[in-house]
Amino acid sequence: MKKAIIFAIIISAIIISGCTQLQTDNRSDNKDTYTLEEIAEHSTENDCWLLIDEKVYNATDYIISHPGGTAILQGCGTDATDLFRTRPMGSGTPHSGNAKDLLKDYYIGELKRK
Ligand code: HEM
Repeated sequence: MKKAIIFAIIISAIIISGCTQLQTDNRSDNKDTYTLEEIAEHSTENDCWLLIDEKVYNATDYIISHPGGTAILQGCGTDATDLFRTRPMGSGTPHSGNAKDLLKDYYIGELKRK
């Protein structure tokens, strides 16, 4: 009887630790997500987040080297998808493939849906 209780305790411990491990793994798979309100808190040249195609970028460190100069600041803290695509203050054309590739260096998460 005593052995059966000890056996049951050991089996329970193994199951509980396995479940905890699973939860941790799932959590590490989760992406960071931000609401539009949170993104809007980063709207300056010293702290500039952009939402482009539902992905969030922290472009602060890129501003200084942006080939389009300060035009990028118009997108800080906003859903800048259309601005990034259309550049109305510039050529009126979408950014190049190179510009789109650069985005991944500044990726920090996804748009959080309410
Ligand atoms: C919404 C924010 C942004 C605006 C309004 C904007 C606007 C512009 C403008 C006006 C130009 C000059 C060329 C032209 O007149 O068409 C330009 C060039 C460029 N921008 Fe942006 N930009 C933005 C965000 C970004 C971001 C986040 C990146 C990369 C991480 C980027 C990368 C580039 C590059 C590489 C060029 C050189 C031309 C090209 O490859 O398309 N821009 N941008």
